[in-house]
Amino acid sequence: MRDYEHDYADPTQSPDWEHGDERPSNISGNPTFFDVIEARASRRGFLAGGLAAAVTAVIGAGLSSRGALAASTSPLLGFRPVPVGEADTVVVPEGYRAQVFARWGDAISGDMPAFHGANTGAEQAQQLGQNHDGQHFFAIDGSSEDGLYVLNHEYIEPRFLHAEAWNGQALSSSDVLWHDGARDDDEVLKEMNAHGVSVFRVRKRAEGWEIVADPRNRRITALTPMEIAGPVRGTAHVVTKYSPEGTASRGTLNNCAYGVTPWNTYLAAEENWAGYFSNIGDQPREQARYGVSDKPEGGRYGWHLAKGGADDCIRFDARATGADAGQDYRNEPNCFGWMVEIDPFDPDKAPVKRTHLGRFAHEGVVFHKGEAGKPVVCYSGDDARFEYIYKFVSRDVFQPGETDGSILDHGTLYAARFNPDGSGEWLALAPGRNGLTPEAGFADLADILVNTRAAADVAGATKMDRPEWGAVDPVTGAVYFTLTNNTRRTEAQVDPANPRSNNQFGHIIRWREARNDAASTMFDWDLFVIAGDPKTSRAFDGAALGEDNIFAAPDGLWFDPDGRLWIQTDIGESAQNAGDYAPFGNNQMLAADPRTGEIRRFLTGPVGQEITGVCTTPDQRTMFVGIQHPGATTTPEDHAGGRLASHWPDGGAAVPRSALVVITREDGGKIGA
Ligand code: FEO
Ligand code: CA
Ligand code: CA
Ligand code: CA
Repeated sequence: MRDYEHDYADPTQSPDWEHGDERPSNISGNPTFFDVIEARASRRGFLAGGLAAAVTAVIGAGLSSRGALAASTSPLLGFRPVPVGEADTVVVPEGYRAQVFARWGDAISGDMPAFHGANTGAEQAQQLGQNHDGQHFFAIDGSSEDGLYVLNHEYIEPRFLHAEAWNGQALSSSDVLWHDGARDDDEVLKEMNAHGVSVFRVRKRAEGWEIVADPRNRRITALTPMEIAGPVRGTAHVVTKYSPEGTASRGTLNNCAYGVTPWNTYLAAEENWAGYFSNIGDQPREQARYGVSDKPEGGRYGWHLAKGGADDCIRFDARATGADAGQDYRNEPNCFGWMVEIDPFDPDKAPVKRTHLGRFAHEGVVFHKGEAGKPVVCYSGDDARFEYIYKFVSRDVFQPGETDGSILDHGTLYAARFNPDGSGEWLALAPGRNGLTPEAGFADLADILVNTRAAADVAGATKMDRPEWGAVDPVTGAVYFTLTNNTRRTEAQVDPANPRSNNQFGHIIRWREARNDAASTMFDWDLFVIAGDPKTSRAFDGAALGEDNIFAAPDGLWFDPDGRLWIQTDIGESAQNAGDYAPFGNNQMLAADPRTGEIRRFLTGPVGQEITGVCTTPDQRTMFVGIQHPGATTTPEDHAGGRLASHWPDGGAAVPRSALVVITREDGGKIGA
């Protein structure tokens, strides 16, 4: 998603700036650990050295032996680092190739007209959506040359989506096309169809990878019928005009990262969904605590103002009494903010919203390896300032080959508390536990789940610096999470897990569950890296990052099967290549060896984009990497003049398009090795 963090850089900008998504909405009184940090630091004598010493103290404290550290000798990192980049292209190491693949607008079914900036809404439903994000290659019969690719389309950039309709208007990356204060119906349809998820078969040919026709190819959009499952199913929270029984809803929105279940299905996250809704009336907590817009036009695309007034559109007006007599969509926002399960191999199966994983701005979800006879365990971050990291442990145990996903409908959701001494605790969000009683405002489990953020406030979870992707080390079972940045954190709010005020550059935290039991409620944590330039960063061994690996705003995170940790960055478009962010160049991807702590830059992307989404084929000889929102740094003035900051990947005068790049080695070897 475009990173809104930096829109606040100018303090004269309205604090009510209105994309809802990452607006801080956590006003609970949970401790920020200032007192305890001070106590801990004093005890250990770290205060004398100031922040740098305190930071070093929380890095590498618990998970590994200092004796294992060795500079530049990682057996996992076999490539030469690339320099930071500012060019409008993808740069990979010597001996590697990058080929553009699966652009927004590429057809996945039907007899499609050619892609152009005036494709209709219906045509968009047969094309890949815009702004690629989470993704996974599902091998067909174990093949590394034939699979079903699943790809999220997080959001849209209207000025590029409707490239032949903007007629010289000066539009920013978030501006909407209005027509006399209303939205055009087909433009809204196209925007809804450019959202969601794509499933498409991909095959390796002699000339490279291609999309091939297959009955399993499908687009899942903001309009696709979905099932609601888990404790919230059938409750009053999700009773809507569309589903009076509260068992179904329409569409999925703002699908950021993803997860792959132990039974080989895909989960798409619903991240910054709140801004799609408008409620200018009194907002209940399940809207206010998530940042539903209080503006008549909403925070995003104003879909409820489509001229035709179709139900699919006006449902985004979430007032208790809607725009027209007889319309009432007050519960529509309760149908979003979930993880959505998709079985890529069964095109007839409706996606399922798994409500026991909680309702918040889900960045993604990451699972521990499924083990027969053990519960299923996964983690999900809530990407907003001062929000939380969550864990789900199933009630039932995993049996390979037997589960259909309903195992996610029974269990316990927890929120993380990171104690200052390097220990941590999972706080159950369940009736009667951690203060979650009817007297405290939580009637039952469904009420807790619909109001997950409020429940975690009461339970006393630790407020984090925008949790983004997580990843589980396939070798050790340690869990890593990116904390991308949080420039709102003050000195008084610093804690050992979020150790910097005005955290511009972000960090990566990790933990190991007690006794290596994934279902444990206790863990030990430390910081893997504090990102930044040579003056502000700290790598795992306490040294600063240097020219081969400086980075900022870690976001995407993925372990390959060898235990190589891939780190992707998302410096917001309003900050890229300027001021304190100038040293980092365009957004990039690095690889790390979690055991030696070494980090090396592997790839830099084109202008204005973020790198998000990565996976390989099972043989690790082909890697797919997502390039989202190229050209987003185009200013309104340049847009009006037809000067776009990027023309990637098509070149010439083309409108920029999100796409994947397929990365291979000239010698056919494993990527990264
Ligand atoms: Fe969709 Fe938090 O990035
Ligand atoms: Ca982003
Ligand atoms: Ca992200
Ligand atoms: Ca981000």
